[in-house]
Amino acid sequence: MKRAVILSILALLSIGFLINWIYSYEKGREDAYIPISKDKELPIIPSESAVFERSGFALEYLNMPMDENHQRTLDTYYENRAYPGAPPSIPHPVKEKLGMGGVTCLQCHQNGGFVEKFNAYAPVTPHPEMINCKQCHVEQRTRSRFKATHFYKKPAPIVGTNNALPGSPPVIPHQLQMRENCLSCHAGPGAVKELRIDHPERINCRQCHVPRKRQYENIELFVRTNSTTND
Ligand code: HEC
Ligand code: HEC
Ligand code: HEC
Ligand code: HEC
Repeated sequence: MKRAVILSILALLSIGFLINWIYSYEKGREDAYIPISKDKELPIIPSESAVFERSGFALEYLNMPMDENHQRTLDTYYENRAYPGAPPSIPHPVKEKLGMGGVTCLQCHQNGGFVEKFNAYAPVTPHPEMINCKQCHVEQRTRSRFKATHFYKKPAPIVGTNNALPGSPPVIPHQLQMRENCLSCHAGPGAVKELRIDHPERINCRQCHVPRKRQYENIELFVRTNSTTND
């Protein structure tokens, strides 16, 4: 009798252990995780402060081995956007259908890392403070139901053509709004491979890279209108 009681207690305990173990194992697979430390103390120009937001990770990015088999490309990057700079749609299933996002999304998108179930690295969001993610990012429902239109997708600036001389730092060819936090898109395993830089440790990006000025883009137009008024 005594033995039966002990045995059944043991059986209960081991079932409990198993349930707990499976539960925490499955839970553990959920989060993307890169073990990195972070402490920051930097002199900062207020309008450029976001440039430094991920600079605590710069050395880790520099020394991280690259996983060649799971890289995003510029083609897939633009494919998922209505036009360059538009919010990308969510290309994966989302658990909480009614929530606005927040922590549900940030567990993977704040620091990135490999996500086994999507077989990809989560891209790091440049704006973790905008917690109503689904205000701007919507789930992909279908790729076939809509008819093609004549919507003209503005071409993106061409990577590799933005420097004055070979070897000089290219100008920033894109707007800075929503793109203040450079390292989120230009470093790490979740970054597009054509955009990933070899110098993430030079954390003061805008010391060398200046925004392209619109008046130079339109210089031809400017000269033309000027000459017509002179005629
Ligand atoms: C379990 C981790 C995980 C969670 C949770 C998660 N994502 Fe993702 N997300 C990923 C991964 C991994 C990718 C990359 C998919 C790929 O490249 O195929 C991705 C891709 C994206 C992209 C596309 C980015 C681009 O540049 O094309 C958007 C947008 C996005 N997620 C938004 C969200 C939002 C909003 C939420 C919350 C509602 C969310 N994600 C929750 C892992 C996650
Ligand atoms: C106010 C609108 C807005 C909100 C809110 C917002 N996003 Fe974005 N998000 C954008 C836009 C616009 C882009 C594209 C930026 C670009 O390409 O210049 C973007 C880009 C991204 C990317 C792609 C980065 C890359 O490297 O390709 C991810 C991932 C992402 N957002 C996740 C999130 C998550 C997670 C949240 C919630 C915590 C969120 N976003 C909230 C507008 C928003
Ligand atoms: C939302 C993601 C994102 C963020 C954040 C971002 N960039 Fe970019 N960057 C891109 C993309 C995409 C391109 C390719 C051209 C394009 O589509 O605008 C690019 C192109 C560039 C180029 C030109 C590269 C070449 O070879 O021609 C430079 C320089 C650059 N970015 C610098 C910066 C700096 C500096 C910051 C921070 C102030 C920054 N970027 C923030 C996505 C981003
Ligand atoms: C000390 C000056 C300096 C700083 C600081 C700097 N860069 Fe660069 N960057 C350069 C130069 C020079 C090149 C051109 C390299 C070449 O053509 O071989 C370059 C190239 C690039 C390119 C084009 C792609 C490539 O790798 O050639 C991008 C994108 C870029 N930098 C982004 C950044 C970002 C993001 C930061 C901040 C983390 C940054 N840079 C900080 C000088 C700098």
